[in-house]
Amino acid sequence: MSLKVLTESILPAIEYELQRQVARLDEPRTRPFYEMLTYHLGWTGEGASPEASGKRIRPLLLLLTTAACKAGWKPALPAAAAVELIHNFSLVHDDIQDKSDLRRGRPTVWKKYREAHAINVGDSLFILAHLSLSELKDKFTAEVALKAEAVIDRACLDLTRGQYLDMSYESQSGLTIQDYWPMAAGKTAALLSACTQVGAILGNADESTQEAYRDFGHYLGLAFQVHDDYLGIWGDNALMGKSTDSDLVTGKKSLPVLYGLGKNGLFARRRDEGPVSAEEVRTLAEQLAREGAKAFTQETADQMTDLALQSLRQANPQAEAGEELFELANQLLNRQS
Ligand code: IPE
Ligand code: IPE
Ligand code: MG
Ligand code: MG
Repeated sequence: MSLKVLTESILPAIEYELQRQVARLDEPRTRPFYEMLTYHLGWTGEGASPEASGKRIRPLLLLLTTAACKAGWKPALPAAAAVELIHNFSLVHDDIQDKSDLRRGRPTVWKKYREAHAINVGDSLFILAHLSLSELKDKFTAEVALKAEAVIDRACLDLTRGQYLDMSYESQSGLTIQDYWPMAAGKTAALLSACTQVGAILGNADESTQEAYRDFGHYLGLAFQVHDDYLGIWGDNALMGKSTDSDLVTGKKSLPVLYGLGKNGLFARRRDEGPVSAEEVRTLAEQLAREGAKAFTQETADQMTDLALQSLRQANPQAEAGEELFELANQLLNRQS
């Protein structure tokens, strides 16, 4: 089997499993509600397309990890659907929290259907994830299924703590780079590390291999968020499909912003003076780069990537799934969206 062949067969299976899980909500009386979910997942409504579905990297990571432990990936599909549903629940709520208008190139759920409905859409995605997880007990021992559920629940709790930090940092001053890591670990790395850990649990890996996979997901998640922060300031708006000028406008304490504030130069002085307008974003992004934030962010993403790849080598992934995990990790960290 050549490289990527496995990924090519896994992706449609993920989509099918997601559709099967979300179909629990398909009832005639509440069809418009069901359609809010299928809109968000990129399947229906204006602009429906594979791009509007996102990259599906969390379920892919989970299933490739199971396969790299030399187990069949198909029984793990309900867990894969669950992590993608949880991710999407967090995006729907995050877009309300961040007041973001655009997600994957389309209006966000709250923009299209208003906030109250978006909260409800997020809630239903979260519950659908748990119903999906509860199917694991049909295919694995109760012990394995319960452990997988516990790891995912823990990650959800960490995610809400990360979101709390992200939101409260907006109005806090005096923060440093050190404050960045618990936020990124919670809001992004927790779920990614749960994906790789659960993949290993369902692949029947031993404890130390499970830990190595967990660390792989953790560092990959940190690298992923740092790269997202980079794209959030210096990325191409059109490619990103989400509101990109907002990190400088909204006062988000992303990694480059924290770096710039710590420099106490022109960037920090301008931020101290009050809100930044959309027209100023370009010049401010250039100033931030001149003060070294762009290079620093890139170097930090590279460092986290190295740590991720080190953990992955330690996990010793097997066969083509193992090679595709390495390839996926490299691809994610060079992405433009
Ligand atoms: C976006 O995640 C949110 C972050 C954790 C940075 P992804 O970039 O994985 O989003 P989609 O699902 O591919 O749109
Ligand atoms: C990413 O949050 C993490 C979650 C959605 C939980 P961000 O707010 O940093 O990510 P984007 O840029 O909206 O995708
Ligand atoms: Mg956010
Ligand atoms: Mg956001």
